[in-house]
Amino acid sequence: MTQSNQSHYIQFEQTNKSEEDSSQFHFKSDVLTGLSQKRKSIPCKYLYDQRGSQLFDEICRTPEYYPTRTEIALLKEHAEEIASLMGLGAHLIEFGSGSSIKVRILLDAATKLESYIPVDISRHHLMQAASNIAKDYPKLKVWPITTDFTQPFQLPNNARDGCNVGFFPGSTIGNFTSDEAKAFLVNSAKIVQPGGSMIIGVDLKKDHKILNAAYNDKKGVTSSFSLNLLRRINREIGGNFDAKRFRHEALYNAKMGRMEIFLVSLDQQSVRVNGHTFNFKSGERIHTENSHKYEIGEFQNIARASGFSPLKVWVDHKSLFSIHYLRA
Ligand SMILES: C[S@@+](CC[C@H](N)C(=O)[O-])C[C@H]1O[C@@H](n2cnc3c(N)ncnc32)[C@H](O)[C@@H]1O
Repeated sequence: MTQSNQSHYIQFEQTNKSEEDSSQFHFKSDVLTGLSQKRKSIPCKYLYDQRGSQLFDEICRTPEYYPTRTEIALLKEHAEEIASLMGLGAHLIEFGSGSSIKVRILLDAATKLESYIPVDISRHHLMQAASNIAKDYPKLKVWPITTDFTQPFQLPNNARDGCNVGFFPGSTIGNFTSDEAKAFLVNSAKIVQPGGSMIIGVDLKKDHKILNAAYNDKKGVTSSFSLNLLRRINREIGGNFDAKRFRHEALYNAKMGRMEIFLVSLDQQSVRVNGHTFNFKSGERIHTENSHKYEIGEFQNIARASGFSPLKVWVDHKSLFSIHYLRA
């Protein structure tokens, strides 16, 4: 369905029953496979159902979570320069757009964009955010796409030819291993096309105390975000996890240069998911997320190996966070 009126344009995507069934099927099969492994693990993309997306927004407001406010400050400080690099008439594609907050800084600075295409796996949250953008930027065409951005997906027809700009903030790229990050960038180079660009927020290596605090906030929001995964499994695929018998754990692994996040079983227990039984020893962990941290040069090497030329990088004065402008 396309809705357009004098005040704003938004293309509502069509999600049919078979697509919804397919995403439920993948969720179920990835959870069952992940819990059957010797080292239990569940892909981090499943942290983001509607509740997970709301909790992530709350994490961004905790005092310990420096990445969001640092990246926003950097975007504000360099918005004009970023907008001039983006050029006129580009389609702006945001990967993992969440609440579409940061992109507003770019939309305010780059007023001649052709369209905004937010892409996210968390459908309800995406549609709400896209609708808010369409209301607040009435001249902009907004085309939300619900999909897993690690898989190939189709852009709207008129965004298929021409140089596009990709925006990947929040250091979401840190959730990938470096090989996965390369694969993602190779795919995104095809999406933005030769001459197009990517603007990527990348968290920097730093004092471990700052990192450990950011992922273990005092209010316990990050813990609720992690534990919501177990509740989501119960809600959507028939699990009987008792979230009170697990705790969130986030630790910096200096050798791997990443935060590693787990759910730890507090005692010996058995859990049923979709008719299958999974046994946990006391202290046994489910790995739920990595967040890799990069030096500037390390990330630029990954970008170069994936078909991008680093054009510019901006870093805050405490060297907490970086924003890279890459040309495909
Ligand atoms: C760390 S949050 C960042 C949100 C927002 N871009 C920001 O900077 O605050 C990651 C976002 O990517 C989305 N996401 C995670 N994995 C995804 C995947 N495989 N495909 C599409 N979206 C994904 C989540 O739903 C979430 O909105």
